[in-house]
Amino acid sequence: MSPQGVGETWEDDTHRVALVTGAARGLGACIAGRLYDKGYRVALTDLDAESAAGAAAELDPSGEHTVGLALDVRDKDAFARVRDRLVGRWGAVHVLVNNAGHSKVEPLMHITAESFGSVVATNLNGTFFGCQVFGAYFAERGYGRIVNIGSLAGQNGGTATGAHYAAAKGGVATLTKVFARELGPHGVTVNAIAPGPQDLPVVRETVDPETLARTEAMIPVGRLGRPGFVADMAVLLAAEHADTVTGACWDVNGGLFMR
Ligand SMILES: NC(=O)c1ccc[n+]([C@@H]2O[C@H](COP(=O)([O-])OP(=O)(O)OC[C@H]3O[C@@H](n4cnc5c(N)ncnc54)[C@H](O)[C@@H]3O)[C@@H](O)[C@H]2O)c1
Repeated sequence: MSPQGVGETWEDDTHRVALVTGAARGLGACIAGRLYDKGYRVALTDLDAESAAGAAAELDPSGEHTVGLALDVRDKDAFARVRDRLVGRWGAVHVLVNNAGHSKVEPLMHITAESFGSVVATNLNGTFFGCQVFGAYFAERGYGRIVNIGSLAGQNGGTATGAHYAAAKGGVATLTKVFARELGPHGVTVNAIAPGPQDLPVVRETVDPETLARTEAMIPVGRLGRPGFVADMAVLLAAEHADTVTGACWDVNGGLFMR
C-alpha cells in the first residue's frame, strides 16, 4: 500500500491558484506566504491596491507568482472582477481564503446601528459574498477549496472584541456549514478556522502590555497563538487530499475554549 493509502492520488498543489482576502498584513499575509512557499500562485487582495501590491512584491519580486489587487469584501461584484482577472492571468482559481476582517472594542450597550452594520458587513457579508461568487465558480469546475477565518469570539461570545464582531464570526461558522452542504457534491470543500488571540500586529497594537500579559496568563498553554500555525492549517485545508474535510471548524485557541 502506498503511504497515501489505497486508491488515493495526492497531487502536487504546485501551480494551483489561491486568493487570500485582507492579505496586505497580519494573518492574511502570513497565509499568503505559506501558500506561496508551497508553490501556489497567490493573489493577495486588500482594501488598498498599493498595500496589497507591496505585500505581493515582498513574496515574489518578479511578480510572476503573486499579484496584489484591490478587493473590498463588502462588494460582491469586486469578487467577480478579481475572479475574472485571475482566470485571465493564470487560467483558473482553486482556493479562496476569506480572511479579511476587523473588530472594534466597544461597550455592548453603546454600539450604534452604523457600527454594528459596518463590522458585520466586513466580517460576515464579506465571507458570504466570497463563498457565493467562488462557490458557484468552483462548483461549475467541479473543484475548489474555501477556508473561512472565523474566531473564538464567534464560539464563546468574545471577551476583548465587540458584540458585532462576535456575532459576525458566529455567522461565519454557520455559513461555513451551509455552503459546505451545498457545495460538497460538486467537489468543493468549505471549512473554518477559529483562532483565539494570536501573536499578530493588531493584537500588540490594540492591547496594552499589561492587559496582554493578563490575557496570556488566562490561556491554558500560557501564550498567544502562532499565526504561522494557523496559516499551515489553512494550507492543509486547501490541499487536494483534504477532500473529506468539510463543514468543519478547526480551533486554535490555546485551550481557552474546549468542546
Ligand atoms: N488577530 C487575532 O488574534 C485574531 C483572532 C481571531 C481571528 N482573527 C481573524 O483573522 C483575520 C485576520 O486578522 P488580523 O489579525 O490579521 O487583522 P489585521 O487587522 O491585521 O488585518 C486585516 C486585514 O483585512 C483588511 N480589511 C479590512 N476590511 C477589509 C475589507 N472590507 N475588504 C478587504 N480587506 C479588508 C485590512 O486592511 C487588513 O489588511 C480576521 O478575519 C480576524 O477576525 C484574528
